[in-house]
Amino acid sequence: MDGIQDLRAKYLEQIAGAAGAEALEGVRLAALGKKGEISLMMRELGKMTPDERQVAGPALNGLKDEIDSALKARKVALDDAALDERLKAEWLDVTLPGRPRPRGTIHPVSQVTEECTAIFADMGFRVAEGPQIETDWYNFDALNIAPEHPARQEHDTFFMHRAAGDNRPPHVLRTHTSPVQIRAMQDQGAPIRVIAPGRVYRMDMDQTHAPMFHQIEGMAIDRDISMANLKWVLEEFFTAYFGTKVKTRFRASHFPFTEPSAEVDIQCSWVNGQLRVGEGDGWLEVLGSGMMHPKVLQAGGIDPDQWQGFAFGMGIDRMAMLKYGIPDLRAFFESDLRWLRHYGFGALEAPTVHAG
Ligand code: PHE
Repeated sequence: MDGIQDLRAKYLEQIAGAAGAEALEGVRLAALGKKGEISLMMRELGKMTPDERQVAGPALNGLKDEIDSALKARKVALDDAALDERLKAEWLDVTLPGRPRPRGTIHPVSQVTEECTAIFADMGFRVAEGPQIETDWYNFDALNIAPEHPARQEHDTFFMHRAAGDNRPPHVLRTHTSPVQIRAMQDQGAPIRVIAPGRVYRMDMDQTHAPMFHQIEGMAIDRDISMANLKWVLEEFFTAYFGTKVKTRFRASHFPFTEPSAEVDIQCSWVNGQLRVGEGDGWLEVLGSGMMHPKVLQAGGIDPDQWQGFAFGMGIDRMAMLKYGIPDLRAFFESDLRWLRHYGFGALEAPTVHAG
């Protein structure tokens, strides 16, 4: 069987010399493929005499196994070499600085809403919500705002469209957060302590007015709630919010839904055109408030002979402007990235007023 030695030498040499997976596969087919040289020789075994076969059989099988292992070993070597090549080409410098990713900021309105919510939560107020599209009953009637009240006039209120022939009074975009007073009373009854931050809408637009802005409503009802409680709650709130003792001044006012009513000013001073809250002898009007009108309690399903409460409504945007020195209200809603980057808060560096 000299032929076998020749084949062995020939294929081992070809295997060693195969430069890649494709060449190696060619060698495999030539030797061990269906019509490969060694396969054909094995087929010849059938024609041999038993004696011849006893010699040729094991020799051919040995050759086949040897070539097979050599093929496999070479394949592993080639794969390793290819991987080495790739790793060299794909070399990565892990010491390079990372690529900066643009990061958004938290809008001052979101930030201030969060701050207010946290302060009132510490005083036992829960957050209540209501729809921005309201019926005129919740926005006006239930709050004792008579049909002829100026707040109902077209120039203040956005009315929703009604289909022709639909004669129900139109829904409105709520003009204040006060309708949430009614909804919260209906939902929870008395006693109750809630705040309701949210969007409100009025047809108004100048440096200090936008057609959409934010208010936070507050309401506390119990057996013996008084104006004194209101004053304490508000002073606690302003002091926590501005981080300095803030005095308040109550001025008699009028709202249909409160009796008596008061507008509340906070103490401030102007130094070189800069506003400082909590010092000096100036006053700045920041909210409307009062004792809830009996008719409003009734509209919320609460007996005014048993319960009484205070309510207040305050502009969130205004609060943000005062605390963070933001001059123009309109910019709040223009989505100018430069403004947002300047006045926005990083998610991790935002000041928090949560009790520690
Ligand atoms: N709803 C009033 C406004 O929008 C504010 C207010 C709320 C006044 C609650 C008194 C009580 O101006």
